[in-house]
Amino acid sequence: MANEEFTDPALAALYDTLNSAGPRDDFAFYLPLVMSAEAVLDVGCGTGTLLHEARRAGHTGRLVGLDPAPGMLEIARGRTDIQWMLGGLGSAAWDREFDLIVMSGHAFQVFLEDDELRSALRAIRDALQPGGRFAFETRNPAVRAWEGWHEEYSSEVRDADGGTVRTVCEVETPVTGDRVSFTHTYTGPAWPTPRVSRSTLRFLAPEALASYLTEAGLVTVDQYGDWDRTPLTSVSPEIITVAVRQPELPGSTKPFS
Ligand SMILES: C[S@@+](CC[C@H](N)C(=O)[O-])C[C@H]1O[C@@H](n2cnc3c(N)ncnc32)[C@H](O)[C@@H]1O
Repeated sequence: MANEEFTDPALAALYDTLNSAGPRDDFAFYLPLVMSAEAVLDVGCGTGTLLHEARRAGHTGRLVGLDPAPGMLEIARGRTDIQWMLGGLGSAAWDREFDLIVMSGHAFQVFLEDDELRSALRAIRDALQPGGRFAFETRNPAVRAWEGWHEEYSSEVRDADGGTVRTVCEVETPVTGDRVSFTHTYTGPAWPTPRVSRSTLRFLAPEALASYLTEAGLVTVDQYGDWDRTPLTSVSPEIITVAVRQPELPGSTKPFS
């Protein structure tokens, strides 16, 4: 379910300002993968920056961005040479159409319920050609990054009109299980009342993630703990995974359900 941060056009317009103070390390990882693939689906594409960058860098193949938040997609539509789709993975039934599917910006963590995660991974598996890759990252729960989010994600930025917008991040405590809920409260002279966006993200441990991927017929071929491709350890900030759709057995078109 998309939260107000992404559905509210005024907040969506601030997303890139808040998230890209400089070049994004994650895009340095994902962009070469996108450039080396013919047909790419970006799930939870947000404002579409990764696919915009791919076109700007000369990608000539099929690029599709999918996101359920109209405010984010409105910004993505600034480029018309990319196919943009409003919705989630349930809104399309792609069958072996992509050789790469990406989920950047921790979009993978929006899948909260077991069933939701299972059906998302099945849809991703189905949308991949055999041998196609699914590349994504999720934060490592062991390092409890949310404990620093108040400092990390509370800041002041300029909106498009030059006004100052202050955003304060508050994590709801105590954190129990593998879900973390938090709010962003936005205030600024242009807004008579503060705008509050509440989100929940799921933090899957590496073992649980591995089991969901296997169940969906996806085989992990590369895994890193950070954008510099260092190995995943218990103190790594990220779990960055590249998984491949398992080759199909002769005579079987859908080995997993
Ligand atoms: C943190 S943003 C990441 C955007 C972009 N991938 C990036 O790297 O900047 C998370 C995105 O996931 C989208 N989202 C939320 N629920 C989703 C779902 N069920 N399926 C796909 N995308 C979803 C949000 O609308 C939002 O644009």
